[in-house]
Amino acid sequence: MKTALPFREIDPVGNKVSITFGGIDLMLPLGENLAGALLVAGVMPFRNTPVSGAPRGPFCMMGACYDCLVQIDGMNVQACMLQVSEGMEITMPVVGGTADA
Ligand code: FES
Repeated sequence: MKTALPFREIDPVGNKVSITFGGIDLMLPLGENLAGALLVAGVMPFRNTPVSGAPRGPFCMMGACYDCLVQIDGMNVQACMLQVSEGMEITMPVVGGTADA
């Protein structure tokens, strides 16, 4: 039986900043790897595949698989290649059209 997230913060007392993921407010550690910080916060999935809608989240953590794709400021970006910064507004990426497609 799983009772806790499998990820832990590296520095639980470090400086945290406010971001949103899908409209939900989160406090994440400033400067940490974005994909890792979102996993620690319990965010999953990061996106859904465009064909089957299967959930996806970070896999390689080195910019190769694109499973950590998120949308920030209208751009699809790999969360594992970014650092947490104040005020990030993150959503699941829109692939191949509008969000309603
Ligand atoms: S986790 Fe594979 S590209 Fe980010």
